[in-house]
Amino acid sequence: MNKYIHLIDLNDYPVSWWKLLLELAHEIREDPAAYSEACKGKIMGTLFYEPSTRTQMSFQTAMLRLGGTIIGFDNPATSSVAKGENIKDTTKIVSGYADIMVMRHPTAGSVKAAALTAECPIINAGDGGHLHPTQTLTDLMTLNEEKHTLENLTIGLCGDLKNGRTVHSLIKAMSCFKGNKFVLISTKELGLPAYMKDILAASGHGYKEVRSLDDAIGELDVLYMTRIQRERFNSEEEYMAQKGFYILDRKKMANAKRDMIVLHPLPRVDEIAIEVDDDPRAKYFDQAKYGMYIRMALILTIINHNSRPAPLVTGRTIPKAKCSNPKCITNQELYLPRYFRGSGDTVICEYCDERTLI
Ligand code: NCD
Repeated sequence: MNKYIHLIDLNDYPVSWWKLLLELAHEIREDPAAYSEACKGKIMGTLFYEPSTRTQMSFQTAMLRLGGTIIGFDNPATSSVAKGENIKDTTKIVSGYADIMVMRHPTAGSVKAAALTAECPIINAGDGGHLHPTQTLTDLMTLNEEKHTLENLTIGLCGDLKNGRTVHSLIKAMSCFKGNKFVLISTKELGLPAYMKDILAASGHGYKEVRSLDDAIGELDVLYMTRIQRERFNSEEEYMAQKGFYILDRKKMANAKRDMIVLHPLPRVDEIAIEVDDDPRAKYFDQAKYGMYIRMALILTIINHNSRPAPLVTGRTIPKAKCSNPKCITNQELYLPRYFRGSGDTVICEYCDERTLI
């Protein structure tokens, strides 16, 4: 039994738990002063192996606004990682110093790998192209506050649906609410991975894949724009071939519903023209601010340990099996136990969720 409330994947917890976080975040936003000493004496360690502005700073601000303090690194080159230290050792050490850790890493499954041996709770702040649960909490809070519902929405997701971890986490979460429909807007090359389509199909929600943002925009309640994830491409040529394909501008916005909202996890590169910022339907800057309140609620809930931890692993070890995903942490840090779930010839890697043939 796992004793800490780690947050690796939002779907490890029931929707009722997400709703408690959303309610607490709403209360904190109404009266932040009431929470200004709620984490007094507590320390948060932030381990950012990848660049970040919003996620890192909103976590840090959240802890400081709760009266706690922070330690950590934002550049692995200035930590012992540069000397070749593995994830297990780094996170084991920091978890002995801190009460809660937040980790971002370029490799899928890395935060779950850290959680296996961490001695304090750990939060996934993005593991490669896999998941980003706290961005999804941010997105849920934005929808809750701006649309006043998480149900019966037609949600368009546009851009890099293959590598965009925010898209994967958001689809997993929104497919837990009734009546939502998904319009997947991407090039063929950057479409949603097969394992994500499996999840969508299993949830019974309708979805369609389209190439044109112009054709889709009129039917949407929410448009979730994303950046083409340059750092996840195998070559610069492949990135250049995909760049600049989808650009939301004033002209496209003219065909959208009057109450459609535009979200973006940010940073934006060129996929939303600056002219859209003044449109009242553009909510991406508000979204970033909601992220701070929901992270305050999350830290508080985890530190107070007032909910039940989710099991970290639900499957079994298959020592001879090798995850088929070259970007999975088990193919980089070879000491990790190889956990898979499911039975038959095709099993699912517990770290990165990719299918593997055994
Ligand atoms: C996102 C991320 O890191 O996945 N940014 C964020 O956390 N707000 C999106 C991105 O980098 O494109």
